[in-house]
Amino acid sequence: MEITKAVIPAAGLGTRFLPFTKAVPKEMLPVLNKPAIQYIVEEGINSGISNFFMITSKSKEALANYLDSSPCLDMFLQERGKDKLLDKLNRIIRQANFTYVRQSEPLGLGHAISMARHSIGKEYFGILLPDDLIFGKQPGLDQLIKIARQEKASVIAVQEVPREAVSSYGIIAIKKQITPNLYQVGQLVEKPSQKDAPSTLAIIGRYVLSHKIFESIDEISGSATDEIQLTDAISNMMNNSEKVLAYKIQGQRFDTGTPLGWLKANIHMALQDPDYAPAIKEMLNDLGSININAHVVKPKR
Ligand code: UTP
Repeated sequence: MEITKAVIPAAGLGTRFLPFTKAVPKEMLPVLNKPAIQYIVEEGINSGISNFFMITSKSKEALANYLDSSPCLDMFLQERGKDKLLDKLNRIIRQANFTYVRQSEPLGLGHAISMARHSIGKEYFGILLPDDLIFGKQPGLDQLIKIARQEKASVIAVQEVPREAVSSYGIIAIKKQITPNLYQVGQLVEKPSQKDAPSTLAIIGRYVLSHKIFESIDEISGSATDEIQLTDAISNMMNNSEKVLAYKIQGQRFDTGTPLGWLKANIHMALQDPDYAPAIKEMLNDLGSININAHVVKPKR
């Protein structure tokens, strides 16, 4: 079973990162020296994806421009002996195809995924949410693809979160633990209260799903009163006897859809990079050795 297609839904409004996202897509925010979208595409390529379907909106033109060749810029840099600068980006552009599908209204993640149905056909496919950056030895999506191929089932990525945080996530109820990190899902609960959460395993932004998800999205769309949620469509697919597994993904994950998550991702990446690490370590040491409270600005009333 080959999994070579992935959907990147990027048509959301990015309200948690306003005002920046008023004019610039959050996927273009730099994490160290590259925009978030490049890490996502690199993860996909390193997981065997060769066809990306990006769900975009009117304000996200920059994404298509970024993932396109730029002959004038290439020539300009080549003439000045600086062609290596663009090499990394051009390499991913050469390695994969990118198709853009417009979602004219942000009607929810489930709706965004349904926009790719004609491109996917009857296959299993990956989904990479561009807000979630995952850094580790093995690419996040690749971890799911290996399990999906082995088990011939849909697999969603999960991560252990503190109980206080469950109401920000979709949480899984475990039907059966298969290995220390792999579970069969019994139920999915979107943003439960602490007392109603069936576990502390939260769904994060990587999925490998059966094409049956498209029928399932159709089925729930009729009754949806608000946004069409992907978790609801996955739950519905399970009710239709489709097996869904959850894998505790290995690696460090950052939610770059919020300023704090984005800042943490930058510090993490800087600490991994020999060019930046010494200066950042020194800065963190300096901050640690002074009275941190002196730097805390009291919130305005
Ligand atoms: P989020 O809800 O996390 O992101 O959606 P958002 O809507 O962009 O940002 P906030 O919550 O307002 O700050 C998860 C992913 O699904 C995409 C988003 O672009 C994001 O990558 N999405 C969401 C769509 O493509 N279309 C939608 O209608 C909703």
